[in-house]
Amino acid sequence: MLIDGIPKKALESSNDFTVTIIDQTLLPHKLEYIKLENLNDCIKAIKDMWIRGAPLIGVTVAYGMYFAIKDNPSDKNIIKSYKLLLNTRPTAVDLKWALDNILNKTLKIKQKERLSYTWKFSRELEANSIKQCSKIGDYGLEIIKSKMVQGETFNILTHCNAGWLACVDWGTALSPIYKAFNEGLDIHVWVDETRPRSQGASLTTWELSKHGVSNTLIVDNAGGHLMQNGKVNMCIVGSDRTASNGDVCNKIGTYMKALCAYDNNIPFYVALPESSIDFNLKSGVNKIEIEERSNKEVTHIRGINSLGELSSIKIVPDMVKSHNPGFDVTPARLVTKLITDKGICNANSKSISELFKNN
Ligand code: MRU
Repeated sequence: MLIDGIPKKALESSNDFTVTIIDQTLLPHKLEYIKLENLNDCIKAIKDMWIRGAPLIGVTVAYGMYFAIKDNPSDKNIIKSYKLLLNTRPTAVDLKWALDNILNKTLKIKQKERLSYTWKFSRELEANSIKQCSKIGDYGLEIIKSKMVQGETFNILTHCNAGWLACVDWGTALSPIYKAFNEGLDIHVWVDETRPRSQGASLTTWELSKHGVSNTLIVDNAGGHLMQNGKVNMCIVGSDRTASNGDVCNKIGTYMKALCAYDNNIPFYVALPESSIDFNLKSGVNKIEIEERSNKEVTHIRGINSLGELSSIKIVPDMVKSHNPGFDVTPARLVTKLITDKGICNANSKSISELFKNN
């Protein structure tokens, strides 16, 4: 997508075997790029959230395996690196999908073939992610068009960041929005701030604004009020892991938005690539490992101070207890449809397995 008119991606590899990412911990205040040069860089990039978002984590672990194999292509090192990367973040399934594919194949081929195989796999994953997200956008655009009323602004609410910063390009939930904007449709996005890490406030507003899409930041608690007052036409969110029955795990707070949407008869869509579906998981509620994140994310807020320095400010009394689950699960019954790279389906086992017949 565009940053001030110039096309950019969240991760870019090149023919000279380098991989560059945007350091998302500095956004929206600074746009800085980091070169990933080894396995540890990839692990740190995911753990410290220089990159985040399920599809982008998937592509980054693939390059992590490439760097590990470059260092040492033995079975032992491949298995060790697989485990290290798998443990970086537990909820997004794209990570496991990419790692399993690499592990299963590389252990079956000769050591001298492993490096070139993994590089090729990673580059294809990166390129395919862009194609998949673009397809999600095409399918989602048709839904938006079918619901728009001539002469009226179409208001979409989104949670967290499921845009190009969470993928390689386009995004999942934001892809239909970019497609609609690029066609000149009159759309506006309500962006949930998404505490505690504020991915909505710092990333979604930034990437939408840089591309030129009209958007307004709201606090996480405002969505229900806006829905009750006819200010939201539809919701679109992404997913970190969707069970085969259509239960959707996504950033903490998604479930509450789905409940509000259901209560107000507002369609609630989830946009995701095939790699975010966990076909081995029958249902998601109480079944998906939910990442527990640092208490400091709850007790402090990060931002830029009046001197232009990045800083962290404490907002609670001393000794306060806090709890910080990173994700929640929205039951399939609250999801209107899934918008995938293969097409649109109902959030239930039958419809999902029909759409993804080969799985
Ligand atoms: O903790 P994060 O920032 O990695 O969480 C990201 C999300 O929850 C996104 O909504 C999800 O990964 C879908 S992204 C296309």
